[in-house]
Amino acid sequence: MEPRYCKPVIIITLLISVATTTTGLKACNFPAIFNFGDSNSDTGGLSAAFGQAPSPNGETYFHTPAGRFSDGRLVIDFIAEGLGLPHLNAFLDSVGSNFSHGANFATAGSTIRPQNTTISQSGYSPISLDVQSVQYSDFHRRSSLLSRQGGVFAELVPKEDYFTQALYTFDIGQNDITSGYKLNMTTDQVKAYIPDVLHQFSIAIKNVYSQGGRSFWIHNTAPLGCLPYILDRFLVTAAQIDKYGCATPFNQVAQFFNTKLKETVIQLRKGLPLAAITYVDVYSIKYILITQAQKLGFEKPLIACCGHGGKYNYNGHRKCGSKITVNGKEIVIANSCKNPSVRVNWDGVHYTEAANKWLFNQLVNGSFSDPPLPLRMACQRMDH
Ligand SMILES: *[C@@H]1O[C@H](CO)[C@@H](O)[C@H](O)[C@H]1NC(C)=O
Ligand SMILES: *[C@@H]1O[C@H](CO)[C@@H](O)[C@H](O)[C@H]1NC(C)=O
Ligand SMILES: *[C@@H]1O[C@H](CO)[C@@H](O)[C@H](O)[C@H]1NC(C)=O
Ligand SMILES: *[C@@H]1O[C@H](CO)[C@@H](O)[C@H](O)[C@H]1NC(C)=O
Repeated sequence: MEPRYCKPVIIITLLISVATTTTGLKACNFPAIFNFGDSNSDTGGLSAAFGQAPSPNGETYFHTPAGRFSDGRLVIDFIAEGLGLPHLNAFLDSVGSNFSHGANFATAGSTIRPQNTTISQSGYSPISLDVQSVQYSDFHRRSSLLSRQGGVFAELVPKEDYFTQALYTFDIGQNDITSGYKLNMTTDQVKAYIPDVLHQFSIAIKNVYSQGGRSFWIHNTAPLGCLPYILDRFLVTAAQIDKYGCATPFNQVAQFFNTKLKETVIQLRKGLPLAAITYVDVYSIKYILITQAQKLGFEKPLIACCGHGGKYNYNGHRKCGSKITVNGKEIVIANSCKNPSVRVNWDGVHYTEAANKWLFNQLVNGSFSDPPLPLRMACQRMDH
């Protein structure tokens, strides 16, 4: 063999071309993303409807509140960047939004099932997944109309064929689990309603499919038993705390949800022959980050960076950005920690930008996905 063939760059090129020919797969070139979810992927929906996420949210990247519950970007922002697309505007954001490459229907506090409580009673967003589906359908209908009419608004909505070519992302379910516990249900009672939650989830997927959506990217639910707001709010016995400090019953119910979600995805693949549905094990990625934080260059994974007091620097009555008035002056009493770039948890519920970036880097190549395709190939239907 000629020495020049040993140059690393040539070897890498050869490896890539071999990989492409053996799988026969090409990148998808998604022109748009439509996202559905809760605060894990809300880029401004709840803020537009119910008030802006307060400072110091947004400080690291946007240098101002930016509708996100984090110091900076969320995983969905890194997904958009990774596909060469702009950050998604919230569907509900009526000021300055440009939806030409997608829209975000997620709002913080969203559940899959509509709740029987108001947002002021329970904190759950009334914009549950069924409402997000209605908003998506109307967005699609009106975008098609505007595209045909042309003019200034046609440039701000997706082209008609983008609705078929787009990546549809979903990250929702965590709040459905907590809602039962907030109503004092037992774990068995919570588990008993999860099949209904997932039935309603599959209705949302079928709604998108019926309107031409083909590529679905579904995050499973996270180890909520490792989050300060759960550890602070719900009493667990010492025996129920694992060696990393996480509350085992909550993680077990999240895993139960995920098992059922995976079964739901398998059923959906059977029923939707043209859909490519990727199931992403975000649970495992987050659990690795939390339990191996030090090794990965992070600190204090169970302690909120932005909060106020208590064992976990989390207080449900004094959340990140809370202010009090002293002698007529407003003072922020729940501020950011010194260095969010080495922290996992931002505000007791959500992750820091640094953590979100790390999570994205794990999931982008498909090593936590079923089927194990990289993000940019998620339009490929793999037959099981
Ligand atoms: C909307 O965003 C796209 C992508 O960033 C950009 O190319 C386009 O110019 C924007 N449209 C308007 C009217 O600002
Ligand atoms: C809300 O109430 C209705 C009627 O009682 C019930 O069928 C439904 O399951 C409840 N939803 C939730 C999320 O508890
Ligand atoms: C749940 O239990 C707590 C403590 O017993 C009680 O204060 C609260 O009102 C209960 N909540 C509901 C929704 O029943
Ligand atoms: C995927 O990326 C992660 C993080 O960079 C890396 O540790 C892992 O080995 C990669 N897996 C594959 C299958 O390429």
